[in-house]
Amino acid sequence: MDNPIHRRCTTLRGLVVLVAAAAVLLLSPAAVTPVASHNDHGVHNNYLVLVRSAYEYDKKVHQNVSSWHASLLASVCDSAKETLAADPSAMTRLIYSYRNVVNGFAARMTPEELEKMSKMDWFDRSLPEQTYHLLTTHTPEMLGLTGDPNRGGLWNTSNMGEGVIIGILDDGIYGGHPSFDGAGMKPPPAKWKGRCDFNKTVCNNKLIGARSYFESAKWKWKGLQDPVLPISEGQHGTHTSSTAAGTFVPNASVFGNGLGTAAGMAPRAHIAFYQVCYEQKGCDRDDILAAVDDAIEDGVDILSLSLGHEDAIDFSDDPVSLGGYTAILNGVFICAAAGNTGPSPATLVNEAPWLLTVGASTSDRRFVASVKLGDKVEVDGQSLNDPNTTMGDPRPLVHDADGMCANENVLMAQNITGKIIICDAGGVVSTEKAKMAKRAGAAGMIVVIPEVFGPVVIPRAHAIPTVQVAYAEGQKIKEFMQTSRDATATFVFKGSMFKTPQSPMVAPFSSRGPNRRSRGILKPDLIGPGVNILAGVPSIEDVELAPDAVVPRFDIKSGTSMAAPHLSGIAALIKHAHPTWSPAAIKSALMTTAEPTDNLRKPIADVDGKPATFLAIGAGHVNPQKAIDPGLVYNMTAVGYVPYLCGLNYTDQKVSTIIYPEPPVSCANLSRLEQDDLNYPSITAILDQPPFTATANRSVTNVGAASSTYVVEVEVPASVKVEVNPTKLTFKAEDEVLNYSVTITSADGRAPASPVEGQLKWVCGKYVVRSPLLVVAGARQA
Ligand SMILES: *[C@@H]1O[C@H](CO)[C@@H](O)[C@H](O)[C@H]1NC(C)=O
Ligand SMILES: *[C@@H]1O[C@H](CO)[C@@H](O)[C@H](O)[C@H]1NC(C)=O
Ligand SMILES: *[C@@H]1O[C@H](CO)[C@@H](O)[C@H](O)[C@H]1NC(C)=O
Ligand SMILES: *[C@@H]1O[C@H](CO)[C@@H](O)[C@H](O)[C@H]1NC(C)=O
Ligand SMILES: *[C@@H]1O[C@H](CO)[C@@H](O)[C@H](O)[C@H]1NC(C)=O
Ligand SMILES: *[C@@H]1O[C@H](CO)[C@@H](O)[C@H](O)[C@H]1NC(C)=O
Ligand SMILES: *[C@@H]1O[C@H](CO)[C@@H](O)[C@H](O)[C@H]1NC(C)=O
Ligand SMILES: *[C@@H]1O[C@H](CO)[C@@H](O)[C@H](O)[C@H]1NC(C)=O
Ligand SMILES: *[C@@H]1O[C@H](CO)[C@@H](O)[C@H](O)[C@H]1NC(C)=O
Ligand SMILES: *[C@@H]1O[C@H](CO)[C@@H](O)[C@H](O)[C@H]1NC(C)=O
Ligand SMILES: *[C@@H]1O[C@H](CO)[C@@H](O)[C@H](O)[C@H]1NC(C)=O
Repeated sequence: MDNPIHRRCTTLRGLVVLVAAAAVLLLSPAAVTPVASHNDHGVHNNYLVLVRSAYEYDKKVHQNVSSWHASLLASVCDSAKETLAADPSAMTRLIYSYRNVVNGFAARMTPEELEKMSKMDWFDRSLPEQTYHLLTTHTPEMLGLTGDPNRGGLWNTSNMGEGVIIGILDDGIYGGHPSFDGAGMKPPPAKWKGRCDFNKTVCNNKLIGARSYFESAKWKWKGLQDPVLPISEGQHGTHTSSTAAGTFVPNASVFGNGLGTAAGMAPRAHIAFYQVCYEQKGCDRDDILAAVDDAIEDGVDILSLSLGHEDAIDFSDDPVSLGGYTAILNGVFICAAAGNTGPSPATLVNEAPWLLTVGASTSDRRFVASVKLGDKVEVDGQSLNDPNTTMGDPRPLVHDADGMCANENVLMAQNITGKIIICDAGGVVSTEKAKMAKRAGAAGMIVVIPEVFGPVVIPRAHAIPTVQVAYAEGQKIKEFMQTSRDATATFVFKGSMFKTPQSPMVAPFSSRGPNRRSRGILKPDLIGPGVNILAGVPSIEDVELAPDAVVPRFDIKSGTSMAAPHLSGIAALIKHAHPTWSPAAIKSALMTTAEPTDNLRKPIADVDGKPATFLAIGAGHVNPQKAIDPGLVYNMTAVGYVPYLCGLNYTDQKVSTIIYPEPPVSCANLSRLEQDDLNYPSITAILDQPPFTATANRSVTNVGAASSTYVVEVEVPASVKVEVNPTKLTFKAEDEVLNYSVTITSADGRAPASPVEGQLKWVCGKYVVRSPLLVVAGARQA
């Protein structure tokens, strides 16, 4: 009889014996019972079950991997007592059977069954269910995609990403949106194997795939019926998809604001949509894994994930990291949002070095509206009210008891009919406050945003005319209210204004490093536009429209969720221009060409007005035209991360889980790589032990002119000394790889008291290959 399971690697003799014995006991074909007949009594929960890396299914015994997983599940479940008729839910005990992303399956089990399962030889570990969250267009011009090809119009050189497939995991997509019109699009490339579970009429050559994943979610969120892609839903997913690859839509605006032709970053790329999140609920981990499992087989080129957990999850437990590794192993570039829990430090998620982790920045467009006070002083804020409307005569300015307008009873008790109410942010979202103020009869609302947001205002469409003002401006209005009797004001809506000085700036909400799981790798990798992004939606939220009104199909949203699809679309352009580049090479191109300065050529500022640290901006703000021709790249193979994972002290089993379906490894038999030696486009030196010196090795691949000489330039503060060896790299051929090392030493022979920032550049004519250089220390030692 054949072994139902066989080892994937033949070096571990001892294990082979063990496996063979276990196999006979557990998995002889006679013992295989259908999953459907399991006893389904007791409390069932969803678990992700990871199978030990040495075990794999035997194609001679099991028809496919899912029948193997079903047999593993069956081996611990009582099969005799129940019939399927008595308990139809037993059918669904095996939720997902994974083929690519992990060696394992998701299943519903009782704690007793799990306990029994945990004694099996093949059992590695289980993870209880976990919920992830979504991290909630002028930008093509701002990023220089349009325009003269000779002056860097990237759309021209990349043919707008034609033929590249971007896979988007999100909450739904409004397939009928004009941004997803297939007119003029070529059919997807022959490698595309995905499918469209929408009505066939909804998919086309733009939206080539659409599938729903809710087999795990439906157990924890009761009432989540088979969603089969609700085409009317998907506020977030419609926005992210159209940002990445929406086609040209003339006349796009939000109530006349931002009027112009909307387009995504890669207007000719294809979109494959994977619904894994549900509005008001979240995204289930095992559904995310299943979607990535399929997307890789379907043939996507890019994966865009605007979702994450609240915490920095261990790389071996996190679906973005686990799926992401399998993605890069298959040459699929993966881009993920950094999180929206800034500006506090150590708030970042999606930290694995094989992901492109994207923070959010402001764009240079504002939707200006002024509050014109009774004394004629104008205080500027932002608003999405139609710029062609006016507020009319000045109105009395009032506030409620606590100044927050968060309690409808308080608002109702006060007569605010026809008045403008000023409200501090907090309590409930301002769009809800506007609805309450409307019911209470208010004519307008001023929202004062928190001080921590600095000058960054994120306008939303509100139910009544509303101007959102920065904290400092809000104080001016309040002062006016205190010092003048019968204070009045009116609003003047001025519409879009461009070239805001000090743009881009870091978004206040953009999550910050340091990287909690791997402090030797700087994260975020870079920042991209994520504030006030105009893109497609099924219909505008939070505003009651007149019955005969045309439903606006565009809205403005902000978040690292909006920044990630910008980078996914730009990656598609680079992929089109350089089809053979590895995911690491594309990422390197994006990072080494990112700009650390703003439109005033000053360091990119944080919301406090001070220069942003690398922990907020990584390598800087994406510069697509330069990214398509970076000169040199820091390349990596997928297996190149293995010594790094060993260096992070992951167990062999965990490393093997992460790198699946690569063969399992033994770290003892590999050279471990310290984090700073990973061939990463940014450089982090950890100086927490005497003699406070560190050496980082790097390899650069020439993707510029065949024959070229690069000279190093290092800028660091006097508190550290940096030595680069060699200081000149002379390439003779394309794709030639040369190495260099950087030795970073504390100048005073002690650990740096606070992080030190500098930069290392390789320069050759027009090429400037820049790496941010961050020096960190642990607790300062006396
Ligand atoms: C796997 O094989 C079983 C029979 O062993 C079959 O019922 C099932 O449909 C197959 N699943 C897939 C995904 O092919
Ligand atoms: C790129 O620019 C050239 C010259 O302006 C033009 O002929 C060509 O059609 C453009 N290509 C695309 C894809 O727009
Ligand atoms: C999808 O199909 C159903 C049933 O045929 C139909 O009622 C619905 O209008 C279709 N939706 C679209 C967008 O085609
Ligand atoms: C744009 O919208 C305006 C008003 O809604 C309409 O008059 C005009 O024809 C539209 N232009 C295009 C190109 O659709
Ligand atoms: C607003 O008014 C201007 C000038 O009167 C006009 O050109 C523009 O089309 C109007 N915009 C909208 C959205 O009605
Ligand atoms: C509220 O104030 C408006 C004008 O300030 C007035 O017309 C109205 O009668 C007042 N309503 C109540 C209930 O006092
Ligand atoms: C990077 O490495 C990969 C994997 O070895 C290789 O296929 C690719 O050609 C290399 N160079 C670039 C620029 O991607
Ligand atoms: C891994 O373990 C070694 C030995 O205990 C330790 O020196 C090293 O700092 C650890 N590395 C990390 C990244 O924690
Ligand atoms: C490591 O390599 C040695 C010699 O090549 C081999 O004997 C040993 O079994 C390997 N250990 C593991 C855990 O793979
Ligand atoms: C780094 O490079 C130096 C020489 O340039 C070499 O001696 C050292 O072994 C390298 N370290 C690693 C981890 O590759
Ligand atoms: C560059 O370093 C890699 C390992 O990091 C090594 O395999 C390779 O031989 C080195 N190349 C040169 C030219 O020294």
